[in-house]
Amino acid sequence: MAKYEQFRGQPRLPKFAIPKRYDLYLKPDLITCKFNGTVQISVDVVAETKFIVLNAADLAVDRASVRFKSSNGSKVLEALEVEMFAQDEIMVAEFAENLPHGVGVLSIAFEGTLSEKMKGFYRSTYEHNGEKKNMAVTQFEPADGRRCFPCWDEPACKATFKVTLEVPSDLVALSNMPVTEEKVDGNLKTVYYQESPIMSTYLVAVVIGLFDYVEDHTSDGIPVRVYCQVGKAKQGKFALDVAVKTLDLYKEYFAFPYSLPKLDMIAIPDFAAGAMENYGLVTYRETALLYDDKHSAAANKQGVANVIAHELAHQWFGNLVTMEWWTHLWLNEGFATWVSYLATDSLFPEWKIWTQFLEECNHGLRLDGLEESHPIEVEINHAGEIDEIFDSISYRKGASLIQMLQSYLGPEPFQRALASYIKKYACSNAKTEDLWTVLEEESGEPVNKLMNSWTKQKGYPVVSVKVKAQHLEFEQSQFLSSGSHGDGQWIVPITLCCGSYDIRKNFLLQEKSGSVDIEECAWIKINVNQTGFYRVKYDEDLAGRLRHAIESKCLSATDRYGILDDSFALSMACQQSLSSLLTLMSAYREELDYTVLSNLIDISSKVARIAADATPELLDNIKQFFISLFQNSAEKLGWDPKHGESHLDAMLRGELLVALVEFGHDVTQNEAIRRFNAFLDDRNSPLLPPDLRRAAYVAVMQKVSTSDRSGFESLLRVYRETDLSQEKTRILGSLASCPDPDIILEVLNFMLSYEVRSQDAIFGLSVSWEGRDTTWRWLKENWDHISKTYGSGFLITQFVSAIVSPFSSYEKVKEVEEFFASRTNPSIARTLKQSIERVHINANWVQSIQNEKHIAEVVQELAYRKY
Ligand code: BES
Ligand code: ZN
Repeated sequence: MAKYEQFRGQPRLPKFAIPKRYDLYLKPDLITCKFNGTVQISVDVVAETKFIVLNAADLAVDRASVRFKSSNGSKVLEALEVEMFAQDEIMVAEFAENLPHGVGVLSIAFEGTLSEKMKGFYRSTYEHNGEKKNMAVTQFEPADGRRCFPCWDEPACKATFKVTLEVPSDLVALSNMPVTEEKVDGNLKTVYYQESPIMSTYLVAVVIGLFDYVEDHTSDGIPVRVYCQVGKAKQGKFALDVAVKTLDLYKEYFAFPYSLPKLDMIAIPDFAAGAMENYGLVTYRETALLYDDKHSAAANKQGVANVIAHELAHQWFGNLVTMEWWTHLWLNEGFATWVSYLATDSLFPEWKIWTQFLEECNHGLRLDGLEESHPIEVEINHAGEIDEIFDSISYRKGASLIQMLQSYLGPEPFQRALASYIKKYACSNAKTEDLWTVLEEESGEPVNKLMNSWTKQKGYPVVSVKVKAQHLEFEQSQFLSSGSHGDGQWIVPITLCCGSYDIRKNFLLQEKSGSVDIEECAWIKINVNQTGFYRVKYDEDLAGRLRHAIESKCLSATDRYGILDDSFALSMACQQSLSSLLTLMSAYREELDYTVLSNLIDISSKVARIAADATPELLDNIKQFFISLFQNSAEKLGWDPKHGESHLDAMLRGELLVALVEFGHDVTQNEAIRRFNAFLDDRNSPLLPPDLRRAAYVAVMQKVSTSDRSGFESLLRVYRETDLSQEKTRILGSLASCPDPDIILEVLNFMLSYEVRSQDAIFGLSVSWEGRDTTWRWLKENWDHISKTYGSGFLITQFVSAIVSPFSSYEKVKEVEEFFASRTNPSIARTLKQSIERVHINANWVQSIQNEKHIAEVVQELAYRKY
């Protein structure tokens, strides 16, 4: 056996020695983009060994620097050999004799390069006084701490960290903990930070650059700062306010104080994810942290609050109590997602955020309806596999299951159990079962048994319901968008109400089928307020009664949402006709709730797109029907914001106008363009407030062609002139709405140009239906470049899914498979399979619509019905 072979190919490090404390020194050079450093790791040697195996990647380690010193200093051992294994991302140090048992100190000196890939220790760029500058930033989750310094880079290997940085003396240098001392020596300064409490390596962070900040304190006096680019401090105020209040709120909710002496939050210009919860130093994309009174939209404001609430939730759930291994990532992410709604709801009750939560559930259901989905708990055998599980299953299905459980157990016992879970596992690690056990003890309910059926198998059930005389019959089977039948079975918490929200029944459906007795009533809604993670298929009688209940305004917004979404999903899975979906949609013509309408818009545009492929001759009528559905609410809201109007109306107006523009409503298109022209003359024009801008940009791009590029040029001018990233991404997200393939190509190439940060190129992929083929050709031609630029992160998956998923023919499935056959790569494998499955589902749907009888008459009737 080759030397050291025993240490290779293992999912986890051998635990001969356990790290207890890191003394880490880093010296980045922001001109050459290199760094060097040293680390002294106090380790507890617990087994007979002359080897130490730890993680390291893309680092050069000087063998002569690697030594082990016993704690009393009596023994100093130099490494005999040090070998780096790039593929396994480990380094093995071999010593001449067995290491003394007990605590000793391992020292290592190393060098590396500030990466351009937005992970590990990387460089980001910004402009200051017209000059381009570099900053140094870390992003270690999930497993890139090893690209900055050799370490036991696993969430369960918690230790304390004492960081020291040597940096140019004019820069701000931040880390997880407060500064204890700064020594300036000419152009350089050495900054010493307090030692941290015990934490996982993926949460260690440093940021070095030029920044301004705003500051406030929690009610306990903990200083909170928001750092941003010089000159933008005012834009950090909203985030600061949210953060201070949220920390106070979580302290109450978890019954445990925030555990660090300070919290910094900072906007980073180049950032792959949305935000990262590093302990005490949370990093964000600019769009996720900064809020501008004049140019940010209501949706931006909500986004900022939501991301902050999410990252701060991790300070308890994730940072204080950490998942034992990545298999339990969902616990971190699903929980932070769920609890962020709790915080946002308490801060901004008028946002009705729990109704909006249904969007999380909906995205979870959509992804988990694929055969290529995965269980929430996944086995992880290699660091490279972790990136892919930061998906809607971990986040959104995870959050929805927590919501389902909370509503089953009741909010008070749930909160009490959480508080004892946090107390029990603080400064330590936990698995999914550990949370269930605490919840079980607190509530007396069989939480483990109930939840295992949801976390250990993929998918979810569709519950079919029929009325038979005086009782309801239920049957569960796995829901798959492909229309096939899976063999999963769940313990389903069924809730129902009959004719009124006061008359309710609950039971656990543990078998394939079950039944309950009911009284005579006008309507029956299953999965009351959509707290359960499943779909419901009603028989015709029940469905008709519900449609009537919607029209008579008897149902809650959450229930109206659920009925619509289940019907859409069943139609796409070819288990229900398009006609019945459209007929149901017509019951929503007086809908005013933001979340329900927003989903109605989304469903309409999906239906219009599929109809364009299935029955192009019906497209005009279908669009006419959708226009008539939305016109009523659009007219009520008007174009101009009303004084003191609600946040939700502001968001809704924007989405309705985009929809009307996209469905080709010419009055709306013309008005949008007129307002855009006023905006070009004056960027503060009241005619185009931020909530309306996307509608205007889309309308402008729809009219652009190679012979009239003026709208495109104007938008590019706005893009170049604004220094607000939210404005930039709004523009990027609208450019490809153009029907002209030559312009689309130009837009796509622009996304890869130096003018667009590589994190933002994905926004340009929301392409018009007409643009699908152009985009696919472009992807193939630029694949080498794209996979080189994005190949080692999760952004690449978005290129694949955004470009492949919209197709709807079996030929395209073949073409995509052929192209990727020789280009597979573990980081896109799962997404590619999911995207191909989506094309299949679309193709099935097209076929079923083409075979549907009477669809033309139904559409004709709906389009011209007078209300
Ligand atoms: N822990 C994640 C950040 C992350 C994502 C690290 C992927 C590594 C890989 C963070 O807490 C997070 O979930 N951020 C979200 C924002 C949130 C509001 C859903 C994100 O980045 O989109
Ligand atoms: Zn998170």
